[in-house]
Amino acid sequence: MKAEDKINKIIKKDKQLFMTTTRQSYNFVAEKGEGDFAYDITGRKFIDFSSFISVYNLGINSSLNVKNAMKRQIDKLMHAAFTDYYSELPLEFAEYLLKFLPRGFGRMFLSNSGTEANEAAIKFSKLFTKRQYILAFYNSFHGRSAGSLGLTASRIVQREHFGPFPNTVHTPYPYCYRCPFNQKYPGCGFSCIDYIRKYPLSKEVAGEEVSAIFFEPIQGEGGYIVPPKDYFKELKRLADEYGILLVDDEIQAGYMRTGKFLALDNFDVTADIYTMAKAIGGGLPLGVTIAKTALGDIPAGSHATTFGGNLVPIAGGLEGLKYISKNKKSLENMAKYKGGIITKRLNEMMDKYEIIGDVRGIGMMIGLELVKTKEKKEPAIKERDKLKQYAFDKGLLLLPAGQSSIRIIPPLTISEQSLMKGLDILEDAVKKLKIQRQ
Ligand SMILES: Cc1ncc(COP(=O)(O)O)c(C=O)c1O
Repeated sequence: MKAEDKINKIIKKDKQLFMTTTRQSYNFVAEKGEGDFAYDITGRKFIDFSSFISVYNLGINSSLNVKNAMKRQIDKLMHAAFTDYYSELPLEFAEYLLKFLPRGFGRMFLSNSGTEANEAAIKFSKLFTKRQYILAFYNSFHGRSAGSLGLTASRIVQREHFGPFPNTVHTPYPYCYRCPFNQKYPGCGFSCIDYIRKYPLSKEVAGEEVSAIFFEPIQGEGGYIVPPKDYFKELKRLADEYGILLVDDEIQAGYMRTGKFLALDNFDVTADIYTMAKAIGGGLPLGVTIAKTALGDIPAGSHATTFGGNLVPIAGGLEGLKYISKNKKSLENMAKYKGGIITKRLNEMMDKYEIIGDVRGIGMMIGLELVKTKEKKEPAIKERDKLKQYAFDKGLLLLPAGQSSIRIIPPLTISEQSLMKGLDILEDAVKKLKIQRQ
């Protein structure tokens, strides 16, 4: 069978059998992967600038140690009924993970995905504070199960027909490139924080009734939006005024992606609860919710899930943490160095091509936003989709974010050679869009 026919056959069957996915563009049919590269079923090789949606931070299909630890654990025992029985490995994992967290964190819950990690955080913050409401941000993505979806406010298609979503209020995120208040940082004096005081917390719910503010330290699905350096200090000040907990969703931005284990560490602020998933399981499903010890305990039986603490992702996850621990400084330097290469190149491209409106990011979590004209900033949605396709045709995997952005999140371990080659393909794809600077 011809390669093209093989791909089309799979895609046709997939569309018949599976109800919905988020796939919107090119036809990549995954077969295998290693290091910097992914291969499709016809043997075509791709450089991956997506880390398979922020999962393979330590290389496509994870490092050999992670895989071997998982294989060994499969032979010993996979599922240990961690909600009912005890086992040692999750303790080792938890103790290791706590080494990467600020002091005072010592209570953990294990689940199987990002949305579950956030569901747990929603319930825990309500239990800890005995308050009902939650404040979250427009453009945010926290998952798609009922509770987390109440927080998510990134695209209507994700929420339409699924409401009502009780007890959540939303407020604008500091999206400075498109400031909802038409202001400029730092002259704005954080109008977006004043707004929270003046509107949601004055007109909709009393601050004293809000249990938690959920946020992403860098909005991922919403468009790779990076808040100004002091934003989270201001947010924490506001939260403290009302005794509200801060819940930091590190599911996409965490795990060394920005050069720090927690992306929030770039802002010199600590939260009260952190949630992690994606990369933390080394390629297998694992969600973690970590709370400050001082917040107390939750009643036995008030939350649990059958597969939480499954030993296979925990074994791989532990190896991943050991790898990070051993290589923390070099991962940090590499994120800075390689992130610097990416940002420099994208900024040069922004100077050359009318279509690139903004480049933003920290470490190796970088977004570029496409616009029809720099002056009016009309989102270049179709062009962004064409760009992904052009890049794919030349052997580069890219994923979208927000309305018209592209996320650049290669594995942290990518070689400089693959990085350069990927950036060359990206620039060729941008050139092909033919909207040059006038
Ligand atoms: C910041 C953030 N939170 C939560 C989620 C949901 O994670 P999952 O898809 O594992 O449920 C995602 C997924 O993209 C995410 O990026």
